[in-house]
Amino acid sequence: MNQSDFPMLKKDIIYFDNAATTLKPKQVLDKMNDYYENYSANAHRGDYDISFKTDQEYELAREKVRKFINAREVEEIIFTSGTTESLNMVANGFFKKYLEENDEILITMSEHASNVLPWFHLQNTNGCLVKFIPLDANHYVTLENVKKAVTPRTKLIALAGITNVLGDERPIKEITEFAHAHNIFVVMDGAQSVPHKKTDVCDLDVDFLAFSGHKMCGPTGIGVLYGKKQLLEELDPINMGGGMNESFDDPQNLYFKDLPHRLEAGTPNIAGAIGLGQAIDYLQSIGMDKINEYEKSLRKYAIDKLIKIPYLDILNIEADGAIISFNVNDIFSQDVAYYLNKYNICVRAGNHCAKILKNEVGIKNSLRISFYFYNTKSEIDDFIELIKNKEKMKVEMI
Ligand code: ALA
Repeated sequence: MNQSDFPMLKKDIIYFDNAATTLKPKQVLDKMNDYYENYSANAHRGDYDISFKTDQEYELAREKVRKFINAREVEEIIFTSGTTESLNMVANGFFKKYLEENDEILITMSEHASNVLPWFHLQNTNGCLVKFIPLDANHYVTLENVKKAVTPRTKLIALAGITNVLGDERPIKEITEFAHAHNIFVVMDGAQSVPHKKTDVCDLDVDFLAFSGHKMCGPTGIGVLYGKKQLLEELDPINMGGGMNESFDDPQNLYFKDLPHRLEAGTPNIAGAIGLGQAIDYLQSIGMDKINEYEKSLRKYAIDKLIKIPYLDILNIEADGAIISFNVNDIFSQDVAYYLNKYNICVRAGNHCAKILKNEVGIKNSLRISFYFYNTKSEIDDFIELIKNKEKMKVEMI
């Protein structure tokens, strides 16, 4: 779908690394250029026309994000640099003061570093404990296993909506329902799910949601922290500076602005936010359900071919996300990635920042292909032709 909108796809590449970052359509690039070329002023600081226009576009982007995830109020949308910053803000600005010694945080072995390290760091600094929800035989999360892992000390469950190596989709709504019935907060890492399927924070009822613009056709360096308003009101700003304060005279008299600006110190990533707003328009013009359905068909098409190749060890034959991770027996994953690169096929090899997943699946590295709506079955055919010839692979790697 829509390949002609993507300048990068004119470069004769097959881009299968969409879980790392997605390509950007011309519409997003044009919108950002328009800001830089025609009304390039700071936001919320000027008293002249182009500055008003900047304010309008920046806040319009926030409203687009609100609608996109169906948040109740625009104040619940905080622009950040990405999922990582969003999750660190939640850990350090909210849970650091909320959690007490021996309170428990539940995560899984298949989380990305951004949803592990902030909690490990919290354990090291305030004495709470990070524990792991046992995964099922496919290494996926079930509500039953969440129930088993919860104790009277569990205060927080932090999970990816879809994981970045196994591509499994979690039953977040059911988990949240159970968690809230037991006074447990739910933080959702939406980096791999928000770009690929409709996300409704009211329906999911998560307390916080983090995601990144660059994984959904937007620019790098912009992301979102959604939080329920009453919780964001309690989230301490980590960054202090211009744009977030109302007034200050001395350390005893600091007055901060209301949400969302209280949590956006410094000159924001204006072009990034505006670009993200345009990316949302772009995705919605295709339709999130259509994107999700199409990606599922690509995944099935690829899996049906990959499972026929006897020397592949596929980590996630069954998964909802458009991510397939596997190894070619006896060949190091990075060597396979280099081989594919000779044919202009971009894939990712390694541990994919999910560094404790090896404790669960027993494999440290893998080759990962991840699709987006602009990928095609014919690209998958080209990729399969190369992967199914192990002898050629071995010869060309020498
Ligand atoms: N989180 C990104 C990935 O999984 C970078 O590749």
